[in-house]
Amino acid sequence: MTAFCKAQAIALVVVGPEAPLVAGLADSLRAAGIAVFGPSAAAAQLEGSKGFTKDLCRRAGIPTAGYVRCASLSDALAALDRFAAPYVLKADGLAAGKGVVIAATCAEAQDALAEMFGGQFGEAGAEVVIEEFLKGEEVSFFALTDGEAIVPFGSAQDHKRVGEGDTGPNTGGMGAYSPAPVLTLALEAQVMAEIVKPTVRTMREEGMPYSGVLFAGLMLTEDGPKLIEYNCRFGDPECQVLMMRLESDLAEVLLACAQGQIAEAEARFADRAALTVVMAAKGYPGAPDKGGTIDLDDCERGGAKVFHAGTAINDGRLVANGGRVLNVTATGRSVTEAQKTAYAAVDAIEFPTGFCRRDIGYREVSRENVDAA
Ligand SMILES: Nc1ncnc2c1ncn2[C@@H]1O[C@H](COP(=O)(O)OP(=O)(O)O)[C@@H](O)[C@H]1O
Ligand SMILES: [Mg+2]
Repeated sequence: MTAFCKAQAIALVVVGPEAPLVAGLADSLRAAGIAVFGPSAAAAQLEGSKGFTKDLCRRAGIPTAGYVRCASLSDALAALDRFAAPYVLKADGLAAGKGVVIAATCAEAQDALAEMFGGQFGEAGAEVVIEEFLKGEEVSFFALTDGEAIVPFGSAQDHKRVGEGDTGPNTGGMGAYSPAPVLTLALEAQVMAEIVKPTVRTMREEGMPYSGVLFAGLMLTEDGPKLIEYNCRFGDPECQVLMMRLESDLAEVLLACAQGQIAEAEARFADRAALTVVMAAKGYPGAPDKGGTIDLDDCERGGAKVFHAGTAINDGRLVANGGRVLNVTATGRSVTEAQKTAYAAVDAIEFPTGFCRRDIGYREVSRENVDAA
């Protein structure tokens, strides 16, 4: 990849997914003198190892759930006694969003631990983190940093479960909206002061300056916001809603971040809501139906925008080629309005082997309707 970028005189590389970041692609590109948006392998441990992040929180006094790191099944079984149901069990390494089990009983937790240490997640499960269960509403917060300065980059909430009312198996995300009004300005300031700033400062002081986007998964608990996890990249489908609201030039912002000048960049967001509905292929999150035809004609007429994920062109026709296939995205003065426009576009799409949730944004829509009443 680095040789290709040099040969093509690429001026800026934005590394999207977590695996190449954890594997050190950004280090290799930087060593070749290429500007890169994304953290070094050392800094990407914030996503690549849940135990690393928990220890960092402990060192820096960052609010997060109490935890124990366990390197063997016997350690983990013994540590269960120190927690109460529901038990939160996490494979330490990258597991494509499948490495967390919330077990309702001790017996379930014991079984899940046996599977993790039995190789269910490969190397990622060689170590496991057991956490205290946090109660509250979840929200995602984004910040850009070049290792020194930090620029807030919006908030979002997503829907992880495949079924309406947040039921059924977990997915990579069935929809999202931005901003997340539950993260008030006061809470955002608290998240910056108590979580993001100490993280960036500690990483810098310990010789692992973090550069790129820091995606904080947060729980808004009765005792204030607590860090659930970090991602070292933009999330999908959170990114789609952030991009719909971003008014500044994305390339300029990312380049400034890559060059250590994020303090001088401007990240301006529209004062509008954005919402995205994921259209997935039937079968997802299990084995998805591939090859189903998709007709998008005129679906963007009402102002929606369709982002492609798992699509392909087959004999000149657009077809499904993955689990999550399309992100049907719209903005509005409220989440309610954005939701209406997004679903109007969904209804104009012909995709017989596809499906979507019909309730993306429901929490916010009901809050808006209470406020309006
Ligand atoms: N300590 C916790 N208390 C309650 N729920 C949790 C806790 N940790 C994680 N979760 C739930 O599990 C989900 C996945 O955990 P997370 O750490 O974000 O792992 P990943 O995204 O890598 O699967 C979270 O979005 C949250 O819903
Ligand atoms: Mg997560």
